[in-house]
Amino acid sequence: MERPSIRSYRIRGTRITEGQRIAKRALQEIYGIPVENKILDLRAIFPAAEKIIMEIGFGMGEATAIIAEQSPQNAYIAVDLHPPGIGKLLSRIQVQGIKNIKVIEDDVHVVLQYMIEVGCLDGVHLYFPDPWPKSKHHKRRIVTTSFLDLIATKLKPGGYFHLATDWVPYAASMMSVFNGSTQFTGGEIAKPDWRPVTRFEGQGIDKDHRVTDLLYFRRP
Ligand SMILES: C[S@@+](CC[C@H](N)C(=O)[O-])C[C@H]1O[C@@H](n2cnc3c(N)ncnc32)[C@H](O)[C@@H]1O
Repeated sequence: MERPSIRSYRIRGTRITEGQRIAKRALQEIYGIPVENKILDLRAIFPAAEKIIMEIGFGMGEATAIIAEQSPQNAYIAVDLHPPGIGKLLSRIQVQGIKNIKVIEDDVHVVLQYMIEVGCLDGVHLYFPDPWPKSKHHKRRIVTTSFLDLIATKLKPGGYFHLATDWVPYAASMMSVFNGSTQFTGGEIAKPDWRPVTRFEGQGIDKDHRVTDLLYFRRP
């Protein structure tokens, strides 16, 4: 499987103890989906789901767990590659008895490209992606034209893409990427009540950062 040459994430605090690694692996057997070069049958994994929604970059997964518990009729595929956060979300799923989340550990570009069927997602959540504020790092921002093309392919017509950022210049950059796309329509919205404040967002609010929510729909 070909991997992106530019990383949208930073390698940070990836160390976990041997015990945590063993626990994470055991929980992944139950609540995870292994990464393979094979398109997933999401309807077989979540037969009763009303909507199938992917969350990209869930961090420590607290917002993911709250959203999934609030909407038990939907199914959530949570994708990240930060081992401590993956362990944390897996253990939340077990302790809270959450039935509608499956966790995938890899770069979302790989997951979308090789494992997700065309036109099968009802929604995508991308909350507080790494802002990469320095100009020399802008190329690492995840929201690019090619990323939008990939998301558009995997969304159902009319499916939604909800994003939030606490970095105003990144919000402007996201909007400009969407404006250049013929596949999406939408724009800025007020924060919906159902979206919990995430861990990363809380840190931004403490620094008086303004939060922007964006909601776009794939054109039919
Ligand atoms: C700034 S954190 C935000 C975490 C969480 N959404 C929050 O608001 O607290 C960004 C997260 O995105 C993940 N991430 C970045 N690039 C990714 C990629 N290409 N595929 C999957 N996850 C990615 C990082 O590992 C990190 O956990």
